[in-house]
Amino acid sequence: MSEAAIAYAQKNGQRFVEELKELLRIPSVSTAPEHVGDVRRAAEWAAEKLRAAGMENVRLIETGTKKQIPSGDDNKKSKDAGRSGHPLVYADWLHAEPSADGKPKPTVLCYAHYDVQPPDPLDEWKSPPFEPAERNGNLYARGAVDDKGQLMIHLKAIESLMKADGKLPVNVRVILEGEEEVGGEGIATYVREHGETLKADAALVSDSEMFAPELPTLCVGLRGMIYTEIEARGAAQDLHSGMYGGAAPNPFVALAQIIAQMKREDGHIAIPGFYDGIEEPTKEELESWRALPFDEDEYLKHEVGSTELTGEKMFSVLERTWSRPTMDVHGMPGGFTGAGAKTVIPAKAVAKVSFRLVPGMKPADIFAKYKAFVEEICPKGITVDVRMIHFGDPIVMSSDNEFIRAAKQAMAEVFKKDTVFIRSGGSIPIVGDFVRELGIPTVLMGFGLPDDNLHAPNEKFNLSNFHRGIESVVRFLGIVGGE
Ligand code: BES
Ligand code: MN
Ligand code: MN
Repeated sequence: MSEAAIAYAQKNGQRFVEELKELLRIPSVSTAPEHVGDVRRAAEWAAEKLRAAGMENVRLIETGTKKQIPSGDDNKKSKDAGRSGHPLVYADWLHAEPSADGKPKPTVLCYAHYDVQPPDPLDEWKSPPFEPAERNGNLYARGAVDDKGQLMIHLKAIESLMKADGKLPVNVRVILEGEEEVGGEGIATYVREHGETLKADAALVSDSEMFAPELPTLCVGLRGMIYTEIEARGAAQDLHSGMYGGAAPNPFVALAQIIAQMKREDGHIAIPGFYDGIEEPTKEELESWRALPFDEDEYLKHEVGSTELTGEKMFSVLERTWSRPTMDVHGMPGGFTGAGAKTVIPAKAVAKVSFRLVPGMKPADIFAKYKAFVEEICPKGITVDVRMIHFGDPIVMSSDNEFIRAAKQAMAEVFKKDTVFIRSGGSIPIVGDFVRELGIPTVLMGFGLPDDNLHAPNEKFNLSNFHRGIESVVRFLGIVGGE
């Protein structure tokens, strides 16, 4: 174990935080066309840090091609949302000395993403989203935990090993993406077409959460998703709602009716065939979830903050969010949303609708069933256009391989507690491709906390988890390298 690297990380911890702040000041919002330059700036910044750490072959890889759903059906192709093409950042260091018995050291592929979600609603932030601020041992900024803080954990673990020891205990490749928050088309295409350049024995992904503070956690399952838009059109143009209300179709009302028919009040999704073939968690997995320190009341009051939880009551909250599929609506652009009142029947309205998928469900298949159902139940006088924005496969991984065991041990050593295994309801589209296309086990070693406000105002990263994350990755690489 490289005690020297751990000492280096401790000694340089404050500088690491300052560097993380530099990255957080770059508003690399991947979905926003006005931020393309910032997204690239973040990529270049990360590339420079990799070079300074002693990594080799550091380069930006341009992307831009479209990821397609593996299906012959034309209308199932992914639609270009007009913002793909953020670069990947690649680096490697492949000089790990073979072990005494001549066996080459394994290669670990480190993955993280440098893009972030939009910061709005801006009024809700206590300090501006792109001006990182430290309060009570936390660093607040958009991207603090998702995923720039965790990206820096990889970079700084590598730097610590390189500077303290002049080498790494294993071969390392690094791949960073700038489109994770918009579906990850570029990296998926790259992995499919140039997978051999990422050849590794395992992937290490730090983009997930710990189940509770102080509880070392490995995530072994992620939900997949399809993210879509339904565009509804009624009248040929906007109409005065007094003159035409009662006779002209309203596309917002139509969308409300469609949405209400898709998801029943008891949480059941009414799309025919939606649940076909879904794979249940094993008895053992369910049992291990029941053993986790989860307090539903606490979750309701302090994490969700509503008066009730919704969804399929016959499943536990962890099952509902980890191993059951669901549907959500994210926004309904169109019509009049300004201050005050305007009496108009809009000609068109849009609903942004996504589904979270679990093992056994295929994005293309679910999209087809959903689109057919929406077209079938569409109210008279309204036409709908249902389109895919992005999608990703669900994934559940084996928790029994040497890399997971190394990660379990590394985290347990740092946090001084047994590591637990969980799934997460979120999605990281590329993880499925690592497992299926590259055929490598993937370790999801995350350091976020349940109250870190991912995608929300006042996103934060616990600085103690930042430092312990670096030490965990240093130890993980050491254990994998047989040290
Ligand atoms: N890091 C998250 C996913 C995540 C969150 C995994 C919490 C485990 C625990 C990731 O950046 C994310 O937000 N993914 C998106 C997917 C995407 C296709 C927009 C998501 O889940 O909404
Ligand atoms: Mn993320
Ligand atoms: Mn995210």
